[in-house]
Amino acid sequence: MAVTVVVGTQWGDEGKAKVIDLLAASHSIVARYQGGHNAGHTVVVGDQKYALQLTPSGVLYDTVTPVIGNGVVVDLPTLFKEIDSLESRGVSCERLKVSSLAHLIFPWHQAIDAALENARGEGKIGTTLKGIGPAYVDKVKRSGIRVGEVLDIAAFEEKVRERAIAARREVSDIGGDTFDIDATVSQFVEYAKRLAPYVADTVNLLHDARERGENILLEGAQATFLDVDHGTYPFVTSSNPTSGGAAVGSGLGPKHIDRVVGIAKAYTTRVGMGPFPSELTDALGEALVDIGHEYGTVTGRRRRTGWLDTVMLRHATRVNSLTEIALTKLDVLDTFDEVKVCVGYRINGEVMKNYPDTVERLGHVEAIWESLPGWKCSTEGITSFDALPESAQKLVKIVERETGIPVSMVGTGPARDAMVVRA
Ligand code: GDP
Ligand code: IMO
Ligand code: MG
Repeated sequence: MAVTVVVGTQWGDEGKAKVIDLLAASHSIVARYQGGHNAGHTVVVGDQKYALQLTPSGVLYDTVTPVIGNGVVVDLPTLFKEIDSLESRGVSCERLKVSSLAHLIFPWHQAIDAALENARGEGKIGTTLKGIGPAYVDKVKRSGIRVGEVLDIAAFEEKVRERAIAARREVSDIGGDTFDIDATVSQFVEYAKRLAPYVADTVNLLHDARERGENILLEGAQATFLDVDHGTYPFVTSSNPTSGGAAVGSGLGPKHIDRVVGIAKAYTTRVGMGPFPSELTDALGEALVDIGHEYGTVTGRRRRTGWLDTVMLRHATRVNSLTEIALTKLDVLDTFDEVKVCVGYRINGEVMKNYPDTVERLGHVEAIWESLPGWKCSTEGITSFDALPESAQKLVKIVERETGIPVSMVGTGPARDAMVVRA
């Protein structure tokens, strides 16, 4: 019996979904614990590709109960579109449970997100414009509407109308796009009716399953350096993707978490603004975009790319209590003549041991590099560590040396079975 958290160690899109899909075979529940449809989680099975935003990545197994935990903000149009799409492809979503304590996203959250980004001008965050930040603001302000409220349709309708009236005023004050109150209310009444059968007390559901001896997987969205506390604030999301957030966002206390798997890409990517010490703005960076298909699943934006940064991984190991790392997309580096790794930062000539605690300092660091000869052969589909080229093995060992924890998996392709799994 074990509770495992899967968390991103960089700025997102590390390949969390692929690892979750792989681990889900031995788990009976996969639960999302934060974020919303700003996530884009890709799972590839055979010739089928699934891009999930809200549905937990374990949904493809009929032995798994997918759970949307209390820490998530739920966009109902996206959820139903996803359910319809999965079901039309033969994936049943009947087992899906949505926490009664999770908060709902409404169209005004998206309007506010867009208006605030506009107002920021040059200083914009580059959000996904999904309304995530404004929905969490309402939660913290204690004016949000929770999933469980859909069970009393009359009261729900009244509350949505009341909030819509206030929100429309707010949206027009900040120059955002307004919306039709009556149409929004009646649309959400319909959504509420459709949501009702999925609503559950997921906190007790998770505890009961754990007490029965079942394995539970807690699926992180976003990543450590997008965490509102530990990330590169203000260029972050509005939730806590770090493993502490898994306890809060699922209701399973920290003592019950047995394993924390940090997912790291063998290089680094970032969507949106903010400092990026190991960034490559030259042809090598372009090559990483092309070979790694580094375009956002949700927004289609080109991801910024750079070399692997072990200062980040060391910090992620600390703040998440990582027990191991899964290093993904190693195969993307197959054709490079040289592979570099950032193993330290220097600021004003001084070597820093720890990750800086402000974006201003992070914006001024200079990377200290370790260089490896490129292995210049295909690693695609390799499943045994010994079969990896020597230089690729060395890269794995640098990660272990710098973080002090084992690299338990190495990704060698998008497919479910393209993975080195080390005991
Ligand atoms: P997530 O948000 O962390 O779940 O990651 P995304 O799904 O947004 O992005 C990861 C992308 O890399 C997806 O298109 C995956 O199919 C793909 N991917 C995952 N692992 C590997 C790997 O080891 N090698 C390659 N080439 N692609 C991978
Ligand atoms: P997954 O789960 C990569 C980024 C946005 C922006 C910042 C804030 O697929 O790894 P938000 O809309 O959350 O307020 O945007 O966070 N961001 C992500 N980047 N992967 C994600 O999710 C992301 N979710 C949000 O680009 O910089
Ligand atoms: Mg993603």
